Amino acid sequence: MSRFAPATATALASRALAALMLACLALAGFGLGGCADEPAMPSGMAGDAERGRLLLRQYGCGSCHRIPGVAAAAGTFGPPLDRYARQVYIAGVLPNTPEHLVHWIVDPQAVEPGTAMPDMQVSAAQARDMVAYLYTLK
Ligand code: HEC
Repeated sequence: MSRFAPATATALASRALAALMLACLALAGFGLGGCADEPAMPSGMAGDAERGRLLLRQYGCGSCHRIPGVAAAAGTFGPPLDRYARQVYIAGVLPNTPEHLVHWIVDPQAVEPGTAMPDMQVSAAQARDMVAYLYTLK
């Protein structure tokens, strides 16, 4: 099964993101407006929400999380994931963006070492679908 290498891929991605943010700040500083507040979802990030809903059930995320619309997802071990589209931070450590949320779901220990959220062996593609569903919760 192909799992993307989270450590390298994410390190590269976050470096690219940091460079982009610097470029935006620089542009803003020169009075050129910088970048739009809400960047469009990068191509390749868009998942399938309906498939995501089924995957959330299949992977048993609901044994620890309350997730509206997902059958039997009433767990209380982890925080409820209702209204996740409005949540500002993921687990209190990362700004809630699609890229970060995929990273969290694929490899929570890399984001927050020692977290009680286990590595669920979710692929990046599956995580993108889950994220698409979680972002329908407003
Ligand atoms: C064994 C229980 C458990 C399972 C199974 C589990 N999680 Fe978690 N999850 C947690 C815990 C505990 C936290 C809180 C972690 C923290 O704050 O460090 C968490 C945090 C999260 C968060 C961040 C919540 C917030 O408030 O920002 C998301 C999103 C999430 N989990 C998604 C998932 C998904 C998707 C799955 C299934 C692939 C899943 N979880 C499976 C226990 C679990």
